Amino acid sequence: MESVKYKHLEPFLLLALCVGCAAEPAVEEPIFPASAPSSWREVRDCRHSHEHELNHIRVLADDAAHDRYLNWDAPFPVGATLLKLEYDDAACSNLIRYTVMQKREAASDPERGDWRWQTVSPTREVLPSNTKSCVGCHTVHCKESEGTGFDLTCAEEL
Ligand code: HEC
Repeated sequence: MESVKYKHLEPFLLLALCVGCAAEPAVEEPIFPASAPSSWREVRDCRHSHEHELNHIRVLADDAAHDRYLNWDAPFPVGATLLKLEYDDAACSNLIRYTVMQKREAASDPERGDWRWQTVSPTREVLPSNTKSCVGCHTVHCKESEGTGFDLTCAEEL
């Protein structure tokens, strides 16, 4: 008898599940447009990375992130995005992955410094990211108090 009694709740439970689905789509999209690699401005040219599995890297910024990243003179606005391209050769010709940081609303994700962190394949598939390790390393290596970073972004020379 109990099961009959709760049967009428099922549509509500399904509705609740669907609301969950809408909030977090099963297939995550890259947080940068496909045109970014060819249109965003370069803020770090091709160089050997101290981190990121010792690849060669370039960093690009959208308009919202560009001046802040170079000058550290104002907070990053919501949506400001930094795109790091990682290559396995010194000439930065063979792209192996992207890592991305995108500023979120203040206090929306304090554990991750109010940034969204993402790893994306060259064919724009979102790959699993250990975001705790992204934040952990940027916290240690890119420290405002030591002049090696600004709001978890990294200084030119580390
Ligand atoms: C072991 C340390 C380490 C880890 C882990 C790490 N990063 Fe970084 N990241 C750096 C350093 C150092 C730089 C500065 C450029 C360089 O030397 O590679 C950087 C630069 C960046 C940049 C360019 C903007 C900036 O801050 O200068 C982005 C975007 C980025 N990382 C995203 C990520 C994401 C996303 C993850 C996790 C999937 C991640 N990083 C994990 C150390 C790390």
